Amino acid sequence: MNPVKPSPLAASQEAAAVPRDTLTLTDNRTGKQYEIPITHNTIRALDLRQIKVNANEFGMMSYDPAFTNTAACISRITFIDGDAGILRYRGYPIEELAEKSSYLETAYLILYGELPTKAQLEEWIYHITHHTFIHESIKKFLDGFHYDAHPMGMMISTIAALSTFYPDAKDIFNAESRRKQTWRLIGKMPTLAAFAYRHSLGMPYAYPDNELSYAGNFLNMLFKTTELKYRPNATLERALDILFILHADHEQNCSANAMRCVGSSHVDPYSATAAATAALYGPLHGGANEEVLRMLLEIGSLAHVPEYIKCVKAGEKRLMGFGHRVYKNYDPRAKIIKRIAYQVFELMGRNPLLEIALECERIALEDEYFVKRKLYPNVDFYSGLIYQSMGFPVSMFPVLFAIPRTSGWIAQWEEMLLDPEQKIARPRQIYLGHDKRSYVPIDRRG
Ligand code: ACO
Repeated sequence: MNPVKPSPLAASQEAAAVPRDTLTLTDNRTGKQYEIPITHNTIRALDLRQIKVNANEFGMMSYDPAFTNTAACISRITFIDGDAGILRYRGYPIEELAEKSSYLETAYLILYGELPTKAQLEEWIYHITHHTFIHESIKKFLDGFHYDAHPMGMMISTIAALSTFYPDAKDIFNAESRRKQTWRLIGKMPTLAAFAYRHSLGMPYAYPDNELSYAGNFLNMLFKTTELKYRPNATLERALDILFILHADHEQNCSANAMRCVGSSHVDPYSATAAATAALYGPLHGGANEEVLRMLLEIGSLAHVPEYIKCVKAGEKRLMGFGHRVYKNYDPRAKIIKRIAYQVFELMGRNPLLEIALECERIALEDEYFVKRKLYPNVDFYSGLIYQSMGFPVSMFPVLFAIPRTSGWIAQWEEMLLDPEQKIARPRQIYLGHDKRSYVPIDRRG
């Protein structure tokens, strides 16, 4: 018996019915079809390059300003589900880490993928603690800054300057060297930050105290005055440590992207961290908590909140600390921070701006403008109020973000370096400028 030969139409229908991990694209300019593999719900942009009208064309690209729908790497560090409000480091929910872990333990987890054993944690803390001192010459850089220099500007410059003190850091493919720079960077960030702060006050620098915890020593370097031994308040020390855990990493945000992008040129990690810190300085990123405080001060009283919200809805202002590129739900970090805020206020007294913040939040969570756009409080909305109550000036807020984020930046940098698929970051462009034209001598120009 002759087999029944299916008609071409039936065959194509059958083929279409069998699920395959591919995407079929039809170029309507040529009628040609292309079958592109799908992996992890993603297509490779380079697979589009085969789509051409003429053989000598460059080929098709994807256009994605601000990378809103482009995965630039494969990562195993941090997971965010922005719609569900989920944040996990190496699989561990942020809520559990904030409750049970310490910043240095979390930094180890982020960097090395697993929670440390007791011995590993002790060794890790020992190395970080013994790399907190900075070269005395760094103080000369700090002294060169004007008394009112923004501490983030001082941080960016002094982090970059560290690269000149540690030329061994250029050996980026040497695991031992990377480990050492990691201890140095995580260890020295609080020292640079505290020294920048003391410089702005004209106070003598307070040196690290190895008997204190990471957060406790930072408070010591910031606030020590005449006492022989500074003893940090346990509530403030733990609050700061939790804030550090919450800020340790946040996958491919603007500053992590800067770290990866600059690091992809194979520059040393200090220079790349200075670039990441610069990215964090901007008011749309790490500068937002500073902007929140300024906004609350500008609103000034509960009675002025509706008027301010009206301006936001009219597009004249932004409600700082609201909205996020990936969270379209309550930022899970904001929930934890709100709890810490009350613990700190209990000790330090209620921040008078809290009432204004709560009223902004209450209105925004009910108002159609914010609900429709899924604008919820982000990590920065309450962190500024806590920092202010702890005695930090507003300009130190982004610095308090940069210190813990250093562990995330290094983890992102190392993952990028060791990924065989990564190369120097080099996006494409769509050129819409002039076509070729001839130089016009100055006396013949319009
Ligand atoms: N206040 C008022 N309206 C806002 C706000 C806000 N804070 N954020 C977004 N919107 C509106 C936009 O005007 C836009 O409205 P439209 O659709 O009518 O034009 C819509 O919501 C979408 O906003 P986009 O700017 O497209 O969202 P994007 O994802 O690009 O921006 C960002 C995210 C930058 C965080 C933004 O929400 C913002 O500027 N927020 C205030 C600054 C802030 O708090 N940043 C901290 C972020 S968290 C961090 O970096 C640690």
